[in-house]
Amino acid sequence: MSRRMIIAGNWKMNKNSAEARDFIAELKGKADFSKNVEVAVCPPFTSLQAAASAAAGSAVKVGAQNMHWEESGAYTGEISASMLAEIPVSSVIIGHSERRQYFGETDDTVNQRVKAVLKAGFEPIMCVGETKEQREADKTEEIVERQLKGGLQGLTEEDMKSLVIAYEPVWAIGTGLTATPEQAQAMHDFIRKLLSKLFSEAVAEAVPILYGGSVKPGNAAELMAKPDIDGALVGGASLKADDFAGIINAC
Ligand code: PGA
Repeated sequence: MSRRMIIAGNWKMNKNSAEARDFIAELKGKADFSKNVEVAVCPPFTSLQAAASAAAGSAVKVGAQNMHWEESGAYTGEISASMLAEIPVSSVIIGHSERRQYFGETDDTVNQRVKAVLKAGFEPIMCVGETKEQREADKTEEIVERQLKGGLQGLTEEDMKSLVIAYEPVWAIGTGLTATPEQAQAMHDFIRKLLSKLFSEAVAEAVPILYGGSVKPGNAAELMAKPDIDGALVGGASLKADDFAGIINAC
């Protein structure tokens, strides 16, 4: 069975509109889009429009880094589905560990956001992953299971057709410490088996599971070669067109 391959760039709080335009123009010249790999960049909200215009007509899709579950109202600093539909985005990262760590995101708020993203017709990229302390305490599977069950609470098999999961061990994010392909594969296999229990074998087989955490051109190929790793969510290395194209071309 062949699942979709996805390489998504999470720019975090980097790149203004001009930088986003330049990056996409450069990426178009450097990445090989002839392969069966979906490519997306996720700029900050203020650069989404520029990125979408620059990417129009190309294979590059544009995603957001967060979205609120309410349509409008007194939620200072948040963005709603109809606002993202104006761009429009194709995907939205939900529950990134930085949101969980610094902005009080919980499994429950992740679940509400995921549902709203699906309702809006965008693709949620739902992030899960353990911290260094949790891994050292042998709690990795317990934590990831809790995050998955909480985040996917109440979703149907139909919903799962439009959902992407990103496994991102927190200790590997921005640290240069990549999980070994074997460590990553073991967790992707664990996640897929859990999806089979929570939903069905068909869902488990179809949902793309991306790996994230210090993915670079030099380690992308061996990670992607693992049977249950269907692409990458890339932070630091998605900020330079050369590096990001290198990862795409390594698939
Ligand atoms: P990194 O970030 O590639 O810089 O480790 C990954 C992420 O946070 O999605």
